[in-house]
Amino acid sequence: MTIFDEPMLWRTKRLAQSRAGLTLGFVPTMGALHEGHLSLVRRSLVENDRTLVSIFVNPTQFENSTDLARYPKTLETDLATLRDEGVHFVFLPSDSDLYPDGYRYRVTETTLSNVMEGAHRHGHFDGVLTVVFKLLQIISSDRVYFGEKDWQQLMLVRGMVESFFISTTIVACRTVREADGLAVSSRNRLLDPEQRTHASCFYRVLSEAATADAAARDLRALGFVVDYVEDRDGRRLGAVRLGDVRLIDNVSRGGRQ
Ligand code: PAJ
Repeated sequence: MTIFDEPMLWRTKRLAQSRAGLTLGFVPTMGALHEGHLSLVRRSLVENDRTLVSIFVNPTQFENSTDLARYPKTLETDLATLRDEGVHFVFLPSDSDLYPDGYRYRVTETTLSNVMEGAHRHGHFDGVLTVVFKLLQIISSDRVYFGEKDWQQLMLVRGMVESFFISTTIVACRTVREADGLAVSSRNRLLDPEQRTHASCFYRVLSEAATADAAARDLRALGFVVDYVEDRDGRRLGAVRLGDVRLIDNVSRGGRQ
């Protein structure tokens, strides 16, 4: 497994790979890897000759520095896990590698990025789209893997790839869940045992309530602070807070997923 941080060196390597006819799958992450991330990695390993994972805790998508500072960092275990999985390359850039412009240039979407997650996390999707755009330019993969867990992010990245004619195929991967239905997330480890047990109600209510309003009402009655629950394009999306831990999830309206 090769670990690198220099965008320009990768370009040369990638050119040689393409000439040799080797396909590349790319999994962008912020580290603190869990089974959700690994489902993307494993799919990429099956579908491509080579797989590259990036680990970069992107500062521009965090609204405040406390949230950024609190983000779990487990680099050594992450690298060991990726090595065990058989990943070929890990891209580990620094802030200045990815933002030589100090974030003067950015990608902004003007509609979907302002609702739901965007309404609660100001500037979040500008940060996400900008870093994903940069990563896609640098890595130049045949396929890039995103989780349905972050549905709004997936829709926005899809839209950006179409709008800017970026030649990579987006592969959407099903949400990996714990046995009780809670979507696997690095934030779950911030829940105390009682909150963790209670957190499974979030998925259950999202899946079972008749309407989005009913889901929000039921979640409030169960002690969650509800940021939003919305039905949109055949899915139900929601974000809640339990203590100071924020959870997001979404389910297909046609059946559980
Ligand atoms: P991160 O939260 O590390 O997630 C990386 C990828 O893993 C995303 O595509 C996310 O949807 C997927 N993922 C997370 N939990 C999952 C689960 N339980 N099941 C399936 N997939 C899951 O999302 C980001 O990082 C960042 O915004 C990033 C795209 C890397 C840009 O900085």
